[in-house]
Amino acid sequence: MELVVNQIGLNGEIDIPSDKSISHRSIMFGAIANGKTTIKNFLRGDDCLSTLKAFQDLGVLIEDDGETITVHGKGISGLTQAKKAIDVGNSGTTIRLITGILAGTDFSTELFGDHSIAKRPMNRVMLPINQMGAECSGHDGTEFPPLTIKGTRTLKPIHYQMPVASAQVKSAILFAALQAQGESVIIEKEKTRDHTEDMIRQFGGEIAISGKEIRIKGPQKLTGQEINVPGDISSAAFFLVAGSIIENSRIILNNVGLNPTRTGILEVIEQMGGKLTVEETGNKENKAGKLIIETSDLKGIEIGGEIIPRLIDELPVIALLATQAQGTTIIRDAEELKVKETNRIDAVATELNKMGASIEPTDDGLIIHGKTPLHGAKVTSYGDHRIGMMLQIAALLVKSGTVELEKAEAISVSYPAFFDDLNKLYQ
Ligand code: S3P
Repeated sequence: MELVVNQIGLNGEIDIPSDKSISHRSIMFGAIANGKTTIKNFLRGDDCLSTLKAFQDLGVLIEDDGETITVHGKGISGLTQAKKAIDVGNSGTTIRLITGILAGTDFSTELFGDHSIAKRPMNRVMLPINQMGAECSGHDGTEFPPLTIKGTRTLKPIHYQMPVASAQVKSAILFAALQAQGESVIIEKEKTRDHTEDMIRQFGGEIAISGKEIRIKGPQKLTGQEINVPGDISSAAFFLVAGSIIENSRIILNNVGLNPTRTGILEVIEQMGGKLTVEETGNKENKAGKLIIETSDLKGIEIGGEIIPRLIDELPVIALLATQAQGTTIIRDAEELKVKETNRIDAVATELNKMGASIEPTDDGLIIHGKTPLHGAKVTSYGDHRIGMMLQIAALLVKSGTVELEKAEAISVSYPAFFDDLNKLYQ
């Protein structure tokens, strides 16, 4: 599709769409809890709908009246064998987290997805889950989907030092540990998003967290809850960058979830010299807020270490931000970007360089030399929603020429109304 180019003065207010990570988990917890869970502001993006459909396939009654989703959970033992293989679409969160849930069932499940899912590494989840007594295997002796998960009602607890910083892996182990016979201990490599831990507590479970160490006893019974999903800071990120780099802009972003394990991008914008105001509106447990972003002069910085998991999904659009900053920005410790929906290190460097940026891909990140004007080009999202949205924001800077985006449809994975929302900001 042809992208909108050459904008100045983005102005207006956006109600940020609901958080993808929390939406997935609200269906999962609802399905394994006992009783009714109601979910308001569920993200109806392709990924979360894959999770919803997966649990329907596993026999859970889930109703959607267009506003509220109601999940009628009967506990983990209430799940029944799916009649056919479950399609997770493009969703890494679905396939990884559901593996931990299925580990405790007394049946086998097959999981498959699109061609990107068929390349996502799964040993990171299958190895610990198999250590707990389930039998998971990939396609043709590899670690890649389609996967078969043969569960067991007698899962063993695990003591696990995580080799990768991954909330998906941690969450899969937590779901299995909730069903195991005894106490599990998980030690994170770096602290990652903690929505699963929050929701274990919210659904009446017990979990002890001390820094990077998590202790959880199984088996536990959870109880259905009322969930209200806040806006996704990973979706807000595109407007935070647009508002910073498009001349003469001021954008207000409402209802953005501000869980501290997700707010690395706000720290980066501040360090680069961005004009950002945060007005907190949520309560202590569910931090949320209104963000106001204005155009500013930016400078290059170094981004690495513990902050990386707190902005991992925002790195493609942060790289774009850095193309408009004076000086060099170095992103390191971000090798996980290579195994996302696409290899995001290569995708960001290749596509933005086509538009005139000066970005060097490295083994664990990117080196971005700013400030560079951007020009028209033919670009692709590689079927990756976040690359697609980042390229539309980049296109807004293009003064002459056109930007043609291939595979724009991927954007509906996390933000179906992206183009409509952006449209509200044009003069
Ligand atoms: C997610 C965890 C992250 C993130 C993904 C969502 C989650 O993946 O990139 O978009 O909801 O747990 P990893 O666990 O692979 O880092």
